[in-house]
Amino acid sequence: MPDGMPPADGSRSIPRVRKMGMSFDDVPRLWFYGPFLTHTANALNILFPAGERFFVRSVKHYLPQISDPLLLARVRAFFGQEGSHGHEHERVFDMLEAQGFELRPWLEWYERTAFELLEKRFPPNLRLSVTVALEHLTAALAEVALTQPFLDEAHPKMRELLRWHAAEEIEHRSVAFDVLQQVDPRYWVRMAGMAFGFGALMFFWRSGARMLLAQEGTDRKRLREEQREARARGQDRRQLFAAVLSYLRPGFHPDQRDTDAVAREYLSSIGRLEG
Ligand SMILES: [Fe+2]
Ligand SMILES: [Fe+2]
Repeated sequence: MPDGMPPADGSRSIPRVRKMGMSFDDVPRLWFYGPFLTHTANALNILFPAGERFFVRSVKHYLPQISDPLLLARVRAFFGQEGSHGHEHERVFDMLEAQGFELRPWLEWYERTAFELLEKRFPPNLRLSVTVALEHLTAALAEVALTQPFLDEAHPKMRELLRWHAAEEIEHRSVAFDVLQQVDPRYWVRMAGMAFGFGALMFFWRSGARMLLAQEGTDRKRLREEQREARARGQDRRQLFAAVLSYLRPGFHPDQRDTDAVAREYLSSIGRLEG
């Protein structure tokens, strides 16, 4: 994908909110290669709903300051899309519990630490800049999900969930950014958001994966082998680090990475481009 292009017109349109009604009843316990990749993906799944509610709260705080009707409509669509993502990802909680995983103690710890202890200590502009940074990282992961073949190996229901979510993340990738640009465009505020957001994402993601892997009981040797195989296929964090680097550029804007066609192509392929 070309980098550094001017904003594409399509990304400034108003994203559609789609209700999916997915079900994960017949997804096997190891649905993505082996335990390491399955639980790395499951851990991201269990971070999403509360994380996305935080994104919505962070942007909602600034609603009274948004007067541009197009930006306001994009913000409302962003709320709708994130709400819909949280709803579908919570069904994965049910799937994991039905598979015998105990999630609640970890989820309570995660929500208390991230959103009661940390969030409340951050001023609104930093909460928004953390959201903007995490939206950028989500859009980078989304591009990987839609352009790399790895997810072809996932169970079809989980693949459908992750690729639909990915496409919508690309559709709304610049909404929170445009709000931050309007209310606090200072470079250091955006950089501080990435420093805190990236650190928190890595910390909670790794912690969630460890919690699930401990319950899976896979021996370390098998995990190391699977990690090696994943790295050989290019399934590692390189793209995430590249996304952090691109974010450091003073003139960065999410629409400079023109991924609209990738999202549109996927949504057309499932017949949901128009909603
Ligand atoms: Fe989302
Ligand atoms: Fe998002």
